[in-house]
Amino acid sequence: MSAKKPLVIVTRKLPDAVETRMCELFDAQLNISDDPMSSGPLIEAVGKADVLVPTVTDRIDGAVLSKAGEQLKLIANFGTGVDNVDLDTARNRGIIVTNTPGVLTEDTADMTMALILAVPRRLVEGAGYLKNPDNNWQGWSPTWMLGHRIYGKRLGIIGMGRIGQAVARRAKAFGLQIHYHNRHRVADEVEEELEATYWDSLDQMLARMDIVSVNCPHTPATYHLLSARRLELLKPDAYIVNTARGEVIDENILARMIDSGQIAGAGLDVFEHAPAVNAKLLQSDRVVVLPHLASATLEGRMDMGEKVIINIKTFLDGHSPPDRVHPAML
Ligand code: 8YV
Repeated sequence: MSAKKPLVIVTRKLPDAVETRMCELFDAQLNISDDPMSSGPLIEAVGKADVLVPTVTDRIDGAVLSKAGEQLKLIANFGTGVDNVDLDTARNRGIIVTNTPGVLTEDTADMTMALILAVPRRLVEGAGYLKNPDNNWQGWSPTWMLGHRIYGKRLGIIGMGRIGQAVARRAKAFGLQIHYHNRHRVADEVEEELEATYWDSLDQMLARMDIVSVNCPHTPATYHLLSARRLELLKPDAYIVNTARGEVIDENILARMIDSGQIAGAGLDVFEHAPAVNAKLLQSDRVVVLPHLASATLEGRMDMGEKVIINIKTFLDGHSPPDRVHPAML
């Protein structure tokens, strides 16, 4: 007689192949409707699951975790960022948390580069103009819809982990000069390869950059890292790109400053109060907004699913899962 399989509750619809494999390996409870779970269903899930597979849309906070049953020993997050999980409470309750690092690095860096190009070159605005028949385009003009060159400009990357470095590699190929601020200076070989300048002081870096890209995780230490005071340090012709987490920037202040011309524009894939987006940002021609698409490739989501399965399987086999998150590392 075969042993009872562990109950793995998956909070959102995942690619078919990932779900099929999960059903083969575990007693998997899937979310076919893909409706995001509010705290009620999450509390029910942690009360009975052996393993929970949440995503960025699930708030696994202290209140939810306080209802976790003794059997819940692993939260295998489908995503790299783990700011949706209260890591301290999880640790105190003996629950291991894993994530999916590495497999969405290149996709996220591609989308970051796309925004770095799109905002100063007015890509979305131009495409929108042509598609609107009311505009009745009259053809090329030497002074119409001018953007700004990115070649030779200074890019300041906040957070020089895997994604930050992948952005820097792309940006260097486009002729941008790479600057970065990070908790730790990266290895000499990496700095040399990227010809990157390290800034110990974020304030000093911000004041000198043409484009700033946010690539750090959202943690208590990075919440509103780009506060009103820091945003005011930016040059009025500077642009901001954020594919990390909305909470790292004070979104209302950013919107106000773009509106008043104190910041030139922004490319945003993430929002502080997602799915709500500040109305000023939505309305501004100088802001390109995307609905959290940076890692949205089929290949990436399949790789993420595979990582989740490996983490669960390794854990159930009695080993330490490869992508265990240690709060101190964030
Ligand atoms: C994920 C992300 O797809 O992995 C992350 O941290 O931001 C996303 O691109 C999402 O978080 C899935 O949970």
